[in-house]
Amino acid sequence: MLKKTSTLIFFAVLIYFILPAQGYSQQFSYEGVQVCGTCHKTEKQGQQLKIWQESKHANAYKALLTEEANKLSGDVKAVENPKCLKCHASGYDVDKKLIGAKFKVEDGVQCETCHGPGSAYKSLKVMKSREESVKNGLIIWKNKEEIEKYCKTCHNPESPTYKEFKFDEMWSKIEHKVPKN
Ligand code: HEC
Ligand code: HEC
Ligand code: HEC
Ligand code: HEC
Repeated sequence: MLKKTSTLIFFAVLIYFILPAQGYSQQFSYEGVQVCGTCHKTEKQGQQLKIWQESKHANAYKALLTEEANKLSGDVKAVENPKCLKCHASGYDVDKKLIGAKFKVEDGVQCETCHGPGSAYKSLKVMKSREESVKNGLIIWKNKEEIEKYCKTCHNPESPTYKEFKFDEMWSKIEHKVPKN
């Protein structure tokens, strides 16, 4: 009897804390690469905008507009197929209220696809503090293993064109560090 009650309390506490946290995180909206790029483009900051523009991730949505993509997609156009969009774009499946004026779905796999919707962390005041940024929805990773695991949420055999994912090589192609000093 005691055991049952404590189990119940455990779940009540779990629901009380976890569910609202998830509901809250869904309130952040997508701002778009241009917004991130206003600050993350200088040499001092590490030119994240340019590195991304030159990466294939910037082309991920456009890759769905090809003849080849439509063949892989069956009866539905690839660009209208949620089964393709889920790895090739972001923001296509959320309420319009959660889409900022400058956001473009055509940007494919963009900053906020990986770092989380940025409406609440994009201000300089918040961005200057890692802790505040994370509290306001910024996603960062603990270590290389966590990053690799994250990449493989898309780079996996569910992709109809899957090629073996060699993390170090692939990471070196898109790495976008803030220079130290
Ligand atoms: C108003 C300017 C500004 C905007 C807009 C902005 N950032 Fe930042 N961001 C910064 C500054 C400043 C830092 C701190 C960088 C440093 O360590 O020198 C930062 C840090 C970061 C970090 C590193 C966090 C860490 O501690 O590891 C990430 C990731 C990041 N920004 C992503 C984004 C994304 C994604 C967007 C768009 C939604 C964005 N930023 C918009 C100014 C900005
Ligand atoms: C495919 C996923 C992905 C995309 C797209 C992406 N990032 Fe990142 N970003 C990462 C990962 C993973 C790290 C963590 C690096 C680490 O911890 O060593 C990171 C780190 C950063 C950092 C911190 C670098 C440092 O030295 O601490 C900044 C700033 C940043 N990203 C900004 C951006 C901006 C701006 C864009 C869009 C122009 C963008 N990122 C696009 C995955 C991504
Ligand atoms: C949201 C899904 C998604 C995530 C997460 C993701 N990618 Fe990608 N990535 C793609 C798609 C889609 C393409 C193909 C784009 C194209 O070719 O048009 C791609 C292509 C690439 C390419 C180009 C491949 C080539 O042959 O040149 C590299 C490099 C890459 N990703 C690295 C990474 C790394 C490293 C991570 C983790 C930090 C990562 N990706 C996370 C979806 C993703
Ligand atoms: C699980 C994530 C995932 C899903 C689902 C997915 N893709 Fe991809 N797609 C990728 C990744 C990652 C790449 C980069 C190459 C690879 O597969 O390793 C890619 C590459 C491609 C390319 C080659 C792009 C280029 O630049 O050559 C095409 C075309 C493509 N995907 C079409 C589709 C279509 C059509 C669908 C839906 C039927 C789809 N993908 C579903 C992740 C995915």
